[in-house]
Amino acid sequence: MELADVHTVGVVGAGTMGSGIAHVAAVAGYRVRLRDVDDALVAKGLDDIDESLARRVDAGDLDAAAADAARDRIEGTTALADLADADLVVEAVTEDRSVKQSVFSDLAATCGPDAVLATNTSTLSITAIASVIDRPERVVGLHFMNPAPVMPGVEVVVGERTSAATADLAHAFADDLGKETWEADDRPGFVVNRVLMPWINEGIRAYEEGVAEKGDVDRGLRLGTNVPMGPLELADHIGLDVVLDASETLHEELGDRYRPAYLLKRKVAAGDLGKKTGAGFYEYE
Ligand code: CAA
Repeated sequence: MELADVHTVGVVGAGTMGSGIAHVAAVAGYRVRLRDVDDALVAKGLDDIDESLARRVDAGDLDAAAADAARDRIEGTTALADLADADLVVEAVTEDRSVKQSVFSDLAATCGPDAVLATNTSTLSITAIASVIDRPERVVGLHFMNPAPVMPGVEVVVGERTSAATADLAHAFADDLGKETWEADDRPGFVVNRVLMPWINEGIRAYEEGVAEKGDVDRGLRLGTNVPMGPLELADHIGLDVVLDASETLHEELGDRYRPAYLLKRKVAAGDLGKKTGAGFYEYE
């Protein structure tokens, strides 16, 4: 399969990442089938896409006709069978290895033998996800960053059995979406989360241990290192449950230096997951 053979893109999971990926694929001219398990989740994903396309139009990044055309290329569905003719699928369901494995088993039974099956996992093993299907050479990590319509980079993750042709296609596809890529070996957290998660947890600990007020931890990192968001703001943006999940996988695989901050666990236990629930380290409208 070459990039020129990719016309239809399937996206499994219509949450923040899935809808963002559907947005960028449709803007780049691909036909997109966005699948989630019930109508309400599909409708929410499509609403989020309407909103994110409108933001790109408001920003002068996309003209209104191109946004409408992109939107027309996206079809929402609850039936995995609607992805049968997808040439490339990106899975963006919950970060749970057995849930992802079950999606991959279903995709292998549904899609054509040449389809490339990508996962947007942020920390789980590509090799383990691919191990449940009969064509692990077609499985690759395509790790988009949040918010996908805006972030310029995509991490391509190569599993034990990923073929060179599949990895090349993943780079070419991301390139065609207007993203720059880098490649990581299939090890916990790949490049970005292996480095980002301890940075966030150290930021939380700096606040928890009284080094500075939370606003000053964030200001310090923003003003001192020129990042757009400090660690606590970024954790709220990503979702504290997602940060905790990724941190726990890294801790389990790589040991004590990845231990999640206690305050992160407490916030998640309280249901304060960041921007999406209206409260995390900060409050949101
Ligand atoms: N859809 C479309 N456009 C969006 C958007 C969305 N969901 N979110 C923001 N934007 C656009 C805005 O329209 C705006 O566009 P212009 O500048 O062209 O006008 C631009 O992005 C900036 O947005 P805002 O002005 O609203 O806010 P901001 O300047 O504070 O930027 C931000 C918001 C882009 C999120 C910026 O703060 C940022 O880059 N933060 C860091 C985000 C980051 O690090 N993401 C990666 C997280 S790690 C990850 O995702 C991996 C993982 O596995 C956990």
